[in-house]
Amino acid sequence: LPRLYSGMQPSADSLQIGNYIGALLQWKELQRDHDAFFSVVDLHAITVPQDPHALREQTRRTAAQYIAAGIDPSQSTLYVQSHVPAHAELAWVLNTITGFGEAARMTQFKDKSAKQGTDATSVGLFAYPVLMAADILLYDAEIVPVGDDQRQHVELTRDLAARFNSRFGDTFVIPEAMILKETAKIYDLQNPTAKMSKSAESHAGVIWMLDEPSVNAKKIMRAVTDTDGVVAFDRENKPGISNLLTIYSVLADRSVDSLEDEYAGRGYGDFKKGLAEVVVSTFGPIRERTLALLDDPAELDRILAVNAGRASEVAEVTLAKAYDRVGLLRPV
Ligand code: TYM
Repeated sequence: LPRLYSGMQPSADSLQIGNYIGALLQWKELQRDHDAFFSVVDLHAITVPQDPHALREQTRRTAAQYIAAGIDPSQSTLYVQSHVPAHAELAWVLNTITGFGEAARMTQFKDKSAKQGTDATSVGLFAYPVLMAADILLYDAEIVPVGDDQRQHVELTRDLAARFNSRFGDTFVIPEAMILKETAKIYDLQNPTAKMSKSAESHAGVIWMLDEPSVNAKKIMRAVTDTDGVVAFDRENKPGISNLLTIYSVLADRSVDSLEDEYAGRGYGDFKKGLAEVVVSTFGPIRERTLALLDDPAELDRILAVNAGRASEVAEVTLAKAYDRVGLLRPV
């Protein structure tokens, strides 16, 4: 089976529905006919300050949400990044073939560091995409299903893999990003031209997978729309309604056309009520399953340990090869 790799940061108590729609939903489908590796990337999360106690809990919660959303940890390898030391080790080697300017051109880094200021920005944040390249390359992944915001990082991964191969001999598989056009970017409900994000300053426009269903329904009802009252997809002129149509269409597995037809001549209130029901019926059960998994943290930790063992077996082979290729003397 073709190898697949993806991951998410445990940077909040809950994932948001952009993570679900842009990534998790695809993962769930793809795991059937791929040898899939899914990580909770805690080493990435610490590139910005995290509360140590909260981070540990968020890491468990993120893993539980993967499982609750349909990732099967006996079929796919679902593990915590820091449990497999090879990630940090290969990242170091890749750092040495990454240009300073090349890393400085990453738009996520530019955005985040501009917001924080250079003194508050860590070298870890600068090297973030290189660690991501290490994640992917350790597993010979051919496919990397992600949302649009990760496109540039996967491009860098390809460049680094090709550079390493040409400098040191064929070592890494060159991966490809898999980004579904329609769902690659879910927008903030209060600010529908900005990406919905775990790190958004205001949570009013973010739907959290683990929030109370009634809270999520309220946020849908309060989503920003426009004044012309027509339920129609028009990204340019009607970003709010278009975003809601995308979310509705994906969660209900219906075409945007059929939703436009159903809500023709009806108000936004009706449309939002319909969407709120779909959101509640999708995430209510996922929330319940997540909370049930979190009730037994020892079992969850056991699953993560078994999976980390499986991941290590693959990662160690690639790491040893890469160390050898660059000329590091191997211990006997
Ligand atoms: P992260 O944790 O920011 O997001 C996890 C996944 O969710 C997608 N996503 C979205 N998709 C659509 N609309 C949105 N509003 C939205 N917000 C987030 C992201 O594109 C991502 O697919 N660097 C990565 C984690 C990572 C990784 C990897 C991914 C580390 N190593 C190796 C793939 C392969 C990140 O921060 O994702």
